[in-house]
Amino acid sequence: MRRYILGISGASGQAIGIKLLRELLGLDFDVHLVISGHALQILAQETGLRLCLDKGPDEETLRGGVRNGRLFQYRQEEMEAPIASGSFKTKAMFIAPCSMKTLSAVAGGYASNLLERAADVTIKEGRKLVLCPREMPFSAIHLENMLKLARIGVSVAPPVAAFYHEPKTLEDMVDFFAGKLLDSAGIENETFKRWQ
Ligand SMILES: Cc1cc2nc3c(=O)[nH]c(=O)nc-3n(C[C@H](O)[C@H](O)[C@H](O)COP(=O)(O)O)c2cc1C
Repeated sequence: MRRYILGISGASGQAIGIKLLRELLGLDFDVHLVISGHALQILAQETGLRLCLDKGPDEETLRGGVRNGRLFQYRQEEMEAPIASGSFKTKAMFIAPCSMKTLSAVAGGYASNLLERAADVTIKEGRKLVLCPREMPFSAIHLENMLKLARIGVSVAPPVAAFYHEPKTLEDMVDFFAGKLLDSAGIENETFKRWQ
């Protein structure tokens, strides 16, 4: 099974989602990608990557030169996409970054778009879900939603900085976050410098 779902929602930290996408493709996985409408706007603002809302995301821009892996892209309105059904088998799903709105939808089982539905399906099918929630500070509501999900086995891995890998650039930090998300799903990777 080499099939993963990646959801990118409208939180800051879009570079983490893009790095994760490229790492998964680089590892030669199939990636089923859904980017929310809000995420598309923030992606353009934070990274300069401009994807077309109407015609679907631009594959070459998303790949950034990574040739391996197969990329399947969906708009958040495409509720008939394969990843909306539990009968379409996947190994795991990531949401990175995960907005507090999407976090709340996932915690509440409120599947109003394809990204939320795919997460709901991942949970109901007993598959691995890894969230990278981004907000600062977290409110009690945010923390309760995270706790609820952690208790049912969802990995909650916010982009909390570490310094033992001696990051020199923001890119080093983004690599660390993406690598830790892959670790959370049990995917072997060499995305960041590990503590020896
Ligand atoms: C520039 C910008 C940055 C944002 N950053 C965050 C964030 O870091 N975390 C968050 O929870 N919401 C953030 N938001 C708000 C979400 O985009 C908003 O709640 C939206 O409804 C999320 O929808 P989605 O999860 O379907 O993408 C941001 C909005 C904008 C315009």
